[in-house]
Amino acid sequence: MSAIVGTPVDRVDGRLKVTGAARYAADHAPRNLAHGALVVSSLARGRVSAIDSRAAESAPGVIAVIRRDNSPRLHPTANDFDSWTKLGETRLLFEDDVVYYAGQYLALVVAETLEQAKAAAGLVEVRYEEQTPKVETEDARDTIFDAEKAFGPTQYARGNVEKAIPRGEWRIQQTYTTPNEHHNPMEPSATVAVWNGDDLTLYDSSQWVMGARYCIADMLAIDRDRVRVISEFVGGGFGCKGFTWPHQVLAAIAAKRVGRPVKVALSRQQMFAACGHRPETEQVVTLAASRDGKLQAIRHQILSQTSPVEDYTELCGVMTGFLYDCPNVEVKHRLVRVNIASPTSMRAPGENPGLFAIESAMDELASLADIDPVELRLRNYAETDLQKKAPFSSKHLRECYETGRDRIGWKDRSPNPRSMRDGKHLIGYGMATATYPAYRSPGAALVLLREDGTAEVASATQDIGTGTYTTMAQVAADALGLPIARIRSSLGDSSLPPAPVSGGSMTTASVTPAVKAAAEDALKKLVQCAIHNRKSPFYDRAADDITAGEGRIASKDGKVRQTYAETLRAAGVAQIEGQARVEPGKEQTEYSLHSFGAQFAKVRVDAELGLVRVERLVAVFDIGRVINPKTARSQALGGMVQGIGAALLEHTVYDRRNGRSVTDNLADYLVPVNADIEQIEPVFLNIPDPVINPLGARGAGELAITGVAPAIANAVYHATGVRVRQLPITVEKLMPLME
Ligand code: MOS
Repeated sequence: MSAIVGTPVDRVDGRLKVTGAARYAADHAPRNLAHGALVVSSLARGRVSAIDSRAAESAPGVIAVIRRDNSPRLHPTANDFDSWTKLGETRLLFEDDVVYYAGQYLALVVAETLEQAKAAAGLVEVRYEEQTPKVETEDARDTIFDAEKAFGPTQYARGNVEKAIPRGEWRIQQTYTTPNEHHNPMEPSATVAVWNGDDLTLYDSSQWVMGARYCIADMLAIDRDRVRVISEFVGGGFGCKGFTWPHQVLAAIAAKRVGRPVKVALSRQQMFAACGHRPETEQVVTLAASRDGKLQAIRHQILSQTSPVEDYTELCGVMTGFLYDCPNVEVKHRLVRVNIASPTSMRAPGENPGLFAIESAMDELASLADIDPVELRLRNYAETDLQKKAPFSSKHLRECYETGRDRIGWKDRSPNPRSMRDGKHLIGYGMATATYPAYRSPGAALVLLREDGTAEVASATQDIGTGTYTTMAQVAADALGLPIARIRSSLGDSSLPPAPVSGGSMTTASVTPAVKAAAEDALKKLVQCAIHNRKSPFYDRAADDITAGEGRIASKDGKVRQTYAETLRAAGVAQIEGQARVEPGKEQTEYSLHSFGAQFAKVRVDAELGLVRVERLVAVFDIGRVINPKTARSQALGGMVQGIGAALLEHTVYDRRNGRSVTDNLADYLVPVNADIEQIEPVFLNIPDPVINPLGARGAGELAITGVAPAIANAVYHATGVRVRQLPITVEKLMPLME
């Protein structure tokens, strides 16, 4: 049978999705379900002096009003990524009566219907002692501090930047800013909590069912075995459903209190507060290069916002130390505390805004030194990781640059800015490097072989729209030699073998090796089953004499053969289960594991109106082996579209007076729609990574957004001669600067 891995298999869950049969968290309606409506803070800083919920309590249909003063005290979790207990914000729900940000949860009204709950929520009167919030970085400069703990180094230096900068023939020093952005998945977060005695089940929209299970159990101080988190379908996450947020535990508390299942579903508006966002960054980049464009120094100073109740660092400089071959590098992250809800990871956290700054600065250097932007990258190509002092497991970025350059038609680009025109449009080409780490975590899976000839593969991983159901089935199909139609995938259930967060683009790299190993384990057990069955033609043979695979077990000489189903039926066994847990090994320390890519944009700017259209976006990605070209392409398209959003549209704006988002809906917070998108062309090199795992596959989801915004900004500069260093590039920033 030919391999299924590597082929563009349709999503195995596609039919369920398009027919509406796929059940998302909020679709779950257990018997006797009650509905919760949140009461949130309308101001950003102060103290709650009183909550009067008497009117709400006597409103029609209201069952209870859950408040701080009638809720159990929560217990802290280890709040640590590696132990799978990471909370979205360190402060526990209802921990104190302080208001830290607008939209903070103050109460939950539980009623028979959602309408009744919402109506009654409007009757809850909150009295505050109000303080002046610090909403913008400008208001909070006195709070700036050096970032410490994060998912990567926050402070890094090699060589001597201070000495090297003045020696550069070419020097660039500029400040780049990126705005607050929200994830805005199609499906807002939702949790349905169901208690059965002391056992809690949460139907949740989650990127990490194991993380939610551990966090909720630990906060409620109940046995982790009593908590089950189910998340069969997730309508996108992009990071806002990774760590555990207050609404999830609030649903559990409310359900316990009223003795009925309770649903807490966030509105789109509520998605703009307490479930994370990408924080605003201000980045100063200094580059120094010799006459021929060879980098001598890179200094990257990052200031990003965090909340009063979480130290989240947007690691913009996490790739600065290995992106180019440069002897002197300094990276420094600092945080500023504002009265805005806690930030969190959002698609390529760090790399995405970080590359906007670095790759814009590289373009400025290319202009200054009069070197072609692609050529400048090639002259500074990093053959090894100078930060980790390790070889790359597999790096084919040079091919990405070259292939992208050919595909976009870079040779048609005239070097000077504002030198290309098509009628009333200014035409520009720009490019940027893309990169994202190839993370991998321990993952486990089980594979069941059934007497009816089907198989099931299962893991407590998630399919957040990326195609995990399908890639798991593909890998199992190949490992067992069964048609994919006979494989069923199960996931999104914390009672299955544990798997990591579907974040950091690590799902494929972490889970598919476990699937493969579990399938092999199942076959091994099947052979044992045949050997020990007196009625089997394989009875009493040595295991070494029997091969398993391609849907059959067979004697080595090929004379005796049986399908898996025949073996099981002959033994009177309904099913056999293989299990495996696999983890990354010493390659994690011996190698530098990253994906790379090159983004190329062609833009058309209306010379009179300053309107930017991205006519073409070509990207060439090196993600190792591509398990499924179709779902990988979908991820790339989504990432590139989201990159266009970051470049031109997305910006969460807060009212400086009260810290409320004034863009908390999809009419004011603009994301790209079909009409904004023209040609998007992702290409995968598809060169297996010999190091990362037995499948040679790295992740795809986050890499695709990186480099898009700078490629577009650089193309806008090339088209217009105007350098916009503040995302998003909107008409009001661009037009006044155009002649
Ligand atoms: Mo991703 S931001 O790690 O979900």
